[in-house]
Amino acid sequence: MIRRELLIAAAFSVVSSAAFAQDTVKIGLILPMTGQQASTGKQIDAAVKLYQARNGTTVAGKKVEVILKDDTGVPDVAKRLAQELVVNDKVAVLAGFGLTPIALAVAPIATQAKVPEVVMAAGTSSITEASPFVVRTSFTLAQSAVPMAEWAVKNGIKKVVTLVTEFGPGLDAEKSFSDKFKADGGTIVENLKVPLRSPDFSPVLQKAADIKPDALFVFVPSGQGAQFVKQFVERGLDKSGIKLIATGDVTDDDQLNGMGDVVIGVINTHNYSANHNSAANKAYVEAFKKANGGLRPNFMSVGGYDGMHMIYEALKKTGGSTDGEKLVAAMKGMAWESPRGPISIDPETRDIIQNIYVRKVDKVDGELYNVEFATIPNVKDPVKAAKK
Ligand code: DHB
Repeated sequence: MIRRELLIAAAFSVVSSAAFAQDTVKIGLILPMTGQQASTGKQIDAAVKLYQARNGTTVAGKKVEVILKDDTGVPDVAKRLAQELVVNDKVAVLAGFGLTPIALAVAPIATQAKVPEVVMAAGTSSITEASPFVVRTSFTLAQSAVPMAEWAVKNGIKKVVTLVTEFGPGLDAEKSFSDKFKADGGTIVENLKVPLRSPDFSPVLQKAADIKPDALFVFVPSGQGAQFVKQFVERGLDKSGIKLIATGDVTDDDQLNGMGDVVIGVINTHNYSANHNSAANKAYVEAFKKANGGLRPNFMSVGGYDGMHMIYEALKKTGGSTDGEKLVAAMKGMAWESPRGPISIDPETRDIIQNIYVRKVDKVDGELYNVEFATIPNVKDPVKAAKK
């Protein structure tokens, strides 16, 4: 009797867990929730939660469960977590990736497991080539750096010193900016670099001050802009006559309002501003702030929000199938309106196509914002476009 009951119970639990496995789609969300890049993790996690709050947790008849893991910003940790999520949790999608080395470390696992890797943050051009399962909803640095170079030449800037963080996205920003600036007739006087971990900007800022170019072009990753600006002022560069131009990673909405009036007037180029004038963005900013104690969403957050949208819509297209190849096929060519403006996934490269905005930091209702004043529509990653 007891044995029979046990058997029935065991059989029932097998059936119910199989049913659960079938009816639940798991997304492994790997983010730097602690460490130097924690603001990226915080922004994307908040955006993913907001997407589910606004759109529900069921899609194509399946429950969508997000499993959040903290990679602490370390590639080896992210790799181990991705392996565990694929093998133990049987996730249908890997998502997140706050830094380029992390996105690259996980790419072989995505390829081997045939699981889509949705890159919501990292911006080095080559990432989409690391696996046919990578699809990107963030940006590439070349997308922002090329329009910045164009603007600089058109606005009388002739001599530039570049200053970037020495890893994938910084090297892409430096090369894309320098190549375009030189091609349009400008002169690059010096290419300065700082390390990713605990950078000290003082020595390179001193060098820039000594060289006295017309402008200093800067890329630092999200979360380091405030420290850069602080040292820029401490070294007296705000009073040197050297113009500060940048990718929007520097005048990041997450920190911008605390940088002080010294950044008013800084021209920069990027894919998203919390000040973007659209109904979709106004609703997004309001809902994001409400759910996060007044925190302003930044460009990392929209990568997360749109990444979730892309996963939901892909599941709708596959009728709930979690086959990795079918999901990636469904993502290719997808187009929608993001809080940043219209975006789509290039079906050839699996990289994002989006507007890049030229912005000027200004005060709006007493707060600092990147105020868009020109739009370059539907920008494809220039690095991959140049290879064709
Ligand atoms: C990357 C990280 C950032 O914080 C950023 O602003 C841009 C790019 C990266 O690792 O690719």
